[in-house]
Amino acid sequence: MSAPVAKSLTYKELPPLSLMPTPLLLRSYLITSILSSPRLLKLSMPLLNIIANSPSRFLNPDKNPAIGFLVRKIIYEHFVAGDGEAAVMKTVAQMKQVGFQGVILGYAKEYAADEGEVGNEELDVRRWKEGYEKTMDMIGPGDFMAVKLSGAGASTLCALTNKQQPPPQMWTEMLSLCHAAKAKDIRVWIDAEQQDLQPTIDEWTLLLMREFNRNGQAFMYNTFQAYLKVTPRNILKYLKIAKDEGWTMGIKLVRGAYIATERRDLIHDTIEETHEAYNGIVEDLLRQHYPGLDEKKRYPEVALMLASHNETSIKNAYAIQKSLIEQGKPTIKLEYGQLQGMADEISCGLLQLCQQSGKEAAEKQNEMEDKLRPRAFKCLAWGSTQECLQFLLRRVKENGDAVSRTGAWVMGFRSEIWRRMKASFGAD
Ligand SMILES: Cc1cc2nc3c(=O)[nH]c(=O)nc-3n(C[C@H](O)[C@H](O)[C@H](O)COP(=O)(O)OP(=O)(O)OC[C@H]3O[C@@H](n4cnc5c(N)ncnc54)[C@H](O)[C@@H]3O)c2cc1C
Ligand SMILES: *[C@@H]1O[C@H](CO)[C@@H](O)[C@H](O)[C@H]1NC(C)=O
Repeated sequence: MSAPVAKSLTYKELPPLSLMPTPLLLRSYLITSILSSPRLLKLSMPLLNIIANSPSRFLNPDKNPAIGFLVRKIIYEHFVAGDGEAAVMKTVAQMKQVGFQGVILGYAKEYAADEGEVGNEELDVRRWKEGYEKTMDMIGPGDFMAVKLSGAGASTLCALTNKQQPPPQMWTEMLSLCHAAKAKDIRVWIDAEQQDLQPTIDEWTLLLMREFNRNGQAFMYNTFQAYLKVTPRNILKYLKIAKDEGWTMGIKLVRGAYIATERRDLIHDTIEETHEAYNGIVEDLLRQHYPGLDEKKRYPEVALMLASHNETSIKNAYAIQKSLIEQGKPTIKLEYGQLQGMADEISCGLLQLCQQSGKEAAEKQNEMEDKLRPRAFKCLAWGSTQECLQFLLRRVKENGDAVSRTGAWVMGFRSEIWRRMKASFGAD
């Protein structure tokens, strides 16, 4: 009997997980199995909820060693890069060793209004800024830093909600963070959040793109959520501004993560419509004929980060871009991002493509082969166990919501473990 090869992407020969170090493979298998079991999830979700939302010191994993150990071993280490420089840099190095083009690193701490020093604006902003300064110290040229604007404290949150200008102190720090990142050749993306904040986040990010995305380079990226009905029009609006003003638009495209709490009428009625919107926007951007833009005039410069775990979307995008490049047609810069602890099979499939075409490129010195090499990034979060709890809660929930998908990932891990066992016995 031959080893069941993981349900794999069609464009490669080796099973995708073959690049993953064995200890990581085993841990991922274990955790993903737990998270894709409705019964185990039913037991652990309420517990995690209590730990995440209790003000009690006793339940704070940073203060209670027993709880800290449990949360750490079970989910933290799977989804989070680490709590400080040593641990995070080890994870980053591991990702690059596996073959990722780079990482996207975000600071997981979120602003919570009940944090104690309510209204101490200066302290909030300073903590927020220091978190991102540390983030930048842990990554290097070519990497991304992921920034959550709402994390900057009460006055920022208030300005976002009320569609105002950014608070001066916070904005000064934001600009200085961006300048520092640019000096280190680190790109910055701004996360998309709930709809009561997002229109203002878009406007503030426009200010940043306008300032930093000159000379044909996308340095700042804004996030667009394809599940919103308004998104195609919204992208068009910014494309027009970018074109008129002559800067490059950085687009990170996601489906959207706030469906549980969002006003439902803003979101596509069915998930199929969201899929259609997502894939449609990708195709229009790649082909450079975005509906509403005059094709005969010069097209705006765009760079696209496809932030998704959906295999169909990723394969489609790659296929479209490949055919455009092979036909010598113009297209845009395309990169891929997936979250740590999720979609390892898909990430690794992309990496294999990288390696395959990388080799060919070295042999043929062919510029086209290099262009065809997909650039895959792993998106990591860092922070203490306590700081990461809200982030972890969302990841656990997301995995539980998509049991059919995580189930497929479990099968993938299982067959790769099986393949390795057989190979090691065969070698004896
Ligand atoms: C690197 C990275 C960065 C991200 N950054 C952000 C961010 O800044 N902001 C943000 O909001 N999200 C962000 N996300 C999360 C993202 O929005 C998705 O929640 C997540 O990635 C799942 O979508 P998918 O494309 O991976 O795959 P799929 O599994 O194909 O997406 C399906 C998901 O779409 C959702 N959905 C969308 N529309 C509908 C609908 N009409 N009906 C029912 N369900 C619907 C469901 O929750 C479902 O689980 C990020 C994801 C990645 C990988
Ligand atoms: C991925 O997207 C496609 C449409 O592009 C959809 O049919 C499929 O169900 C999605 N996969 C998952 C696992 O959500």
